[in-house]
This record gives sequence, C-alpha cells and structure tokens, in this order.
Amino acid sequence: MNFQEQIKQGIPATLPAAKPYPADANRAPKRKDILTKAEKQLAVRNALRYFPADWHGELAVEFANELNDFGRIYMYRFKPEYAIKARPISDYPAKCQQAAAIMLMIDNNLDPAVAQHPEELITYGGNGAVFQNWAQYRLTMKYLSEMAEDQTLHMYSGHPMGLFPSSVEAPRVVVTNGMMIPNYSKPDDWERFNALGVTQYGQMTAGSFMYIGPQGIVHGTTITVMNAFRKVLPKGQSPKGKIFLTAGLGGMSGAQPKAGNIANCITVCAEVNPKAATKRHQQGWVDELIDNMPALIARVKQAQAQQEVVSIAYIGNVVDVWEAFDAEGVFVHLGSDQTSLHNPWSGGYYPVGISYDEANRLIREEPELFKTKVQATLKRHAAIVNKHTAKGTYFFDYGNAFLLEASRAGGDVMAENGIDFKYPSYVQDILGPMCFDYGFGPFRWVCTSGNPADLDKTDAIAADVLKRIMLESPEEIQQQMQDNITWILDAKQNKLVVGSQARILYADAQGRAEIAQAFNEAIARGEIGPVVLGRDHHDVSGTDSPFRETSNIYDGSRFTADMAIHNVIGDSFRGATWVSIHNGGGVGWGEVMNGGFGMLLDGSAEASKRLKSMLFFDVNNGIARRSWARNNEADFAIRREMARTPKLQVTLANRVDDELLNQLPF
Ligand SMILES: NC(=O)c1ccc[n+]([C@@H]2O[C@H](COP(=O)([O-])OP(=O)(O)OC[C@H]3O[C@@H](n4cnc5c(N)ncnc54)[C@H](O)[C@@H]3O)[C@@H](O)[C@H]2O)c1
Repeated sequence: MNFQEQIKQGIPATLPAAKPYPADANRAPKRKDILTKAEKQLAVRNALRYFPADWHGELAVEFANELNDFGRIYMYRFKPEYAIKARPISDYPAKCQQAAAIMLMIDNNLDPAVAQHPEELITYGGNGAVFQNWAQYRLTMKYLSEMAEDQTLHMYSGHPMGLFPSSVEAPRVVVTNGMMIPNYSKPDDWERFNALGVTQYGQMTAGSFMYIGPQGIVHGTTITVMNAFRKVLPKGQSPKGKIFLTAGLGGMSGAQPKAGNIANCITVCAEVNPKAATKRHQQGWVDELIDNMPALIARVKQAQAQQEVVSIAYIGNVVDVWEAFDAEGVFVHLGSDQTSLHNPWSGGYYPVGISYDEANRLIREEPELFKTKVQATLKRHAAIVNKHTAKGTYFFDYGNAFLLEASRAGGDVMAENGIDFKYPSYVQDILGPMCFDYGFGPFRWVCTSGNPADLDKTDAIAADVLKRIMLESPEEIQQQMQDNITWILDAKQNKLVVGSQARILYADAQGRAEIAQAFNEAIARGEIGPVVLGRDHHDVSGTDSPFRETSNIYDGSRFTADMAIHNVIGDSFRGATWVSIHNGGGVGWGEVMNGGFGMLLDGSAEASKRLKSMLFFDVNNGIARRSWARNNEADFAIRREMARTPKLQVTLANRVDDELLNQLPF
C-alpha cells in the first residue's frame, strides 16, 4: 500500500502486528500511575472503542501493559509504516486543498526531526500532544482525505468526533484541547483524564498543528535576549563576551543558544538529558558540548577573555552551573531558565545531585520522593540566583513557571509586598510593552510546496513589505521594525529550517496583513505555491496567561480568559481554515487559555478577503483589551488603528488621578 492508500485507509482492515519501540527512541517519561483498577478498566474500554470487537482480546492485554508501563495507551502498533514528515501538499490525498494543508501541518508536528517524543505523538514541552494515540491520528487523516469544502471536522483533544456539514466559509477544522469544567483543571486531573483517554494537553502549537520546530521560538528569544542586553548594558555596548546563562535544550528551549549567537553573546545552556543536548548539537543549534564543570569554567573564561560569540551546552544540572559560576567568580550578565516547569512532577524539571536515570526511576517508582527533591532543588536554585542578582545579574522568568513553582516550593522569590515576584517575566519587562501592546507577535508561514526556493521568495517579499511600511511607521515602533527587517534578511543564513519550509516573523497587524496579501498575489501569479499562515499562541490576543502573555495586564483582569475565547470565536467566522483553543499551553494545565489559527492562502480572491478580515481581528482584539487595561503602548496602537479604520470603534479607558484614589475612605 502506498502513502496515499494508507492515509485513506484510516484504521487498517486487518490487525497490524505488534511492534517494539525503536531502541534509540527518546521516550516520553512514564506518567503518574493515578487510576484506580476500575478506572484502568475504563481506560482500556475507551481505547478499544476505536477497534472491532474481534481484536479486543489481543489489544486489551497490550493496552493494559502500555498503561501499566507508561501510564498512557499510545497504541504504538498502529503507528503507520510510512515516514511521517511534511510532504509537498500535492502528495496528500484530499478532495479539498485546505484539508491537504492541515494534513501537511499535522505530519510536520509528528516528524521525528521536529517532534520531541514522536512515538508518543508528543511534539514539545514533554507533554504537548498532537493526538493521544495512533488511532486518532489515522482516523483524522482519513477524515481529512474525505472532507468536502463544506464540511467541518470537530476535534475533541485529539479525538476526531466527525465531519459535520457546514459551509465553504466555515473553518475546516475546529480543535479544542483540554477544555475542562474549571474545578477539574488541576495537574492531577490532567493525569487522570488523559490516562482515561478523554482529554489531552495540546500545549500551544502542538495540538493546533502549528509548531515549526525551534525556529518558531528563536525569533522571539532573539528579540528577548537582544532587548534584555539593551536594558542592562550602557547604550551602544555590544553583548560580545557577556554571559547569558540558562537551561533547557528541548523543544522550545533548544532555541536559546542560537538566539544567543544571533544576539552576539556567550550562551551557556545546561541540559540534563544527554540525548536532547546531542540532538541540538548535531542540528547545529548549539556550538559546543561540555560534560564536566572544570572544562566548562575554563572554556567560559577563555570565551570571555577573547570576547567570543559562542554557545555552549553543559550536560548536567543548571543549579550546578549557577553554583560553580558563583564559586569561580564568573559574572553572569543575563540569567534565565527554560526547563519545563509547567510540568514539574513528571520530568519537566530535574533535581540536582542525582543522575538523570535515577531521577527518571524516581518519577516512575517514587513520585513523592521525586517531588520533594524537585522542591528542594527549586529552593536551592532560587537562592543561588539571588546571590548572582545581588552581584548585578539581570534575571528574568522565561514564562516556564519558574518563579511560580519556586514560590510554591518555598523558594525566596517573592517581592517585599508578598504579592509579586522579585523578578520580572520576560513579558512584563520586554515582550509585553515592546511588542505585544503594539501588536507585534509571532506570525509565521509554511510554504506547502516544500520547495526551499519558495521560502526564499517569501522572505524577500516580507522584507520588501516591512521596508515599505517602516518608511511611514511612527517613532514608537521604528526599533521593532528594524529588528524584524534584520531578522528576515538574515533568516536564511541562520539556517533555521527544521521540518517544513517555514518562517517566523514578529509583525504587527498591518505587517501581517500586507505580507499575507503580497503572498496571495504571488501565489495567484504562479510565482510560489500555496502558503499556510499561522502564529504561535504566544501572542498579542490568542492567550490569557496571568504569569506570561498577559502578565503585563494590571487592571485585575489577567485572571480572566475572555480575550482568548473571543479570539478563537472571532477568527473562526472571519475566515480561518482551522481554529484551536487549549487549556494549559506553556505554563501548565489550568493556568492559561490559549488559542490559535491556521489559514491557507491559495491565491484566490476569497483568500484575500479572508486574510484581511481575520488577521485584522486576530491582532486588534488583543490590542483593544490591552488598551482597556490602560497599557499606554496599546492605547497608542489602537487609537492609530481607529484613525485609519473607520469601522473600528473601541471603548477607550479614561485615566484616574492617583491623588483622588489616595483620598478615598478605605
Ligand atoms: N522559548 C520561549 O520563548 C518560551 C516562551 C515561553 C515559555 N517557554 C517555556 O519554556 C519551557 C521549556 O519548553 P521546551 O519546549 O523547551 O520544553 P522541553 O521539555 O522540551 O525542554 C526542557 C528541557 O529542560 C531540561 N531540564 C529540566 N530540568 C533541568 C535542570 N534542572 N537542569 C538542566 N536541564 C533541565 C529537560 O531535560 C528538557 O530537555 C516550557 O515551560 C515553555 O512553556 C518558552
């Protein structure tokens, strides 16, 4: 059976043979053994409903073993035999091109070159799932291959509920991931209901098929590191020879060394998992690998002395590095952390003082002891960071819930008022006021032909559009425009592509719409093939996340999720090809609502109409909310937008005099 026939087949007609996991697979950690006996029976019953009854005898035992051994039922024997990767759009068997584009994006998110634990359908972040099991993948691809232009596939946490009649204008796919009744949205609820097979953690872009490898985050990380250095260094001084110390070489965190190189500093990035560190080294995302502390100290001192631009992966625990740098008098200019603390108890953050393998054993066999060790490490981590910041290091939380979990563990990270943290998040200090409030966010596109020449052409088109817009941009956003032009001009030589022919670019509403329109025209002229547009959920409007994307909202509304919900509903009827809304992306289950979209540009007049309407709302919804929260930059941006868009009328916030409030009888 060829690739197309296998896709169209869905669940195979005959039971495929059981197969072992590849010996070299980077397996997802074993999940918590949380279900009762009756619940385990229910989990197996749930899994078996995908298959005919005469397979149940054999599969029931296998699924029970998977549940016992790994805490989840992945149905590995149903993983297709063909290589899963983004193929040219014309390779996908489909009755409508939009469906083929979605298949391409799903496959890209499960490509072993892109995904963290591809055997378990996990794209990034340790638990960011595209599907819960291989039956869901097979069924979804089959539905997409059969989908007509006036049908919509509704997906419940990876499960394709089915194709429903809709209209040509409607989204082709509606995705929800991890939507829970609020009282059932604690981390253990995820463990329980995910093990039962009824929900999943879609992270941000994994469960919405929009992950494009670490490139997606390199740009944002570069902007963050560059601007953090601008904050701490005297004006005009170069980051050369200055140290950026951080941790994590996983899905997103793997972008840090590359971003550090682009920002021209010395990056030291600790990673406890040797496989993750080696993978990033082989991919060229980090320059050097070092596995012992004396060698690291010597190498860092040499790089400082020679003002090098270099990125170094240290295979080991980040707490050891912070402590050794303190003992050896190595000054850290910038410090952060990108371990997966949104997932602290099952492998997101490793305790110091024990080996990686021993830590993994504890997760499986002694979860309570593991938790105690994580908490002790977090306290030690906070203490040593405090020691460095007392010497002048600028430390920021990288949206991985480090400060949140350190505070919960009793670490010394609270500010004097007992409410705020001692350190800002990167959104509070940098991305929020400098980017999101003006509408700049991680816009991205994928060239569905798979042809690198198409990507080159789109880079050139985007650069031209930005240069033209910059000529008439106000002073307030000149720096952002210039950073983005530099980024896109250098993007090819920075070798950022892993998986599909994709590009990320921080653009504002005007930039996104004008770039998309220029792409659509180039497609219509036959210069490039169709293009998928999208964005990270980590953006202006798509995400309500009180400790990250909306951490610079100070009117008390940062614990509400209205903006994210309005965004996904608004995008869906303005022309998105698919929309998604998730619980938990980035910072953890129950901590955030995040949504995104995908849109196929095919060169048609319809696509042109859709992109204008949807991209406008997708950004300006968030600017309006940020402006209502009294953020000055957003107030500036929305007034500017209203001046050029007569049909936009936004409620503006009046400012209140502090003196008036101080005199009130409270
Ligand atoms: N890059 C960004 O711009 C960005 C933005 C917001 C949030 N984040 C957050 O960053 C976190 C990381 O994301 P990811 O996709 O890279 O996750 P990941 O799980 O793929 O990678 C994290 C890595 O940290 C390593 N690690 C864990 N504990 C360690 C320790 N004590 N010392 C050294 N290494 C350790 C793990 O082995 C793992 O490889 C997530 O919480 C994510 O939400 C990233």
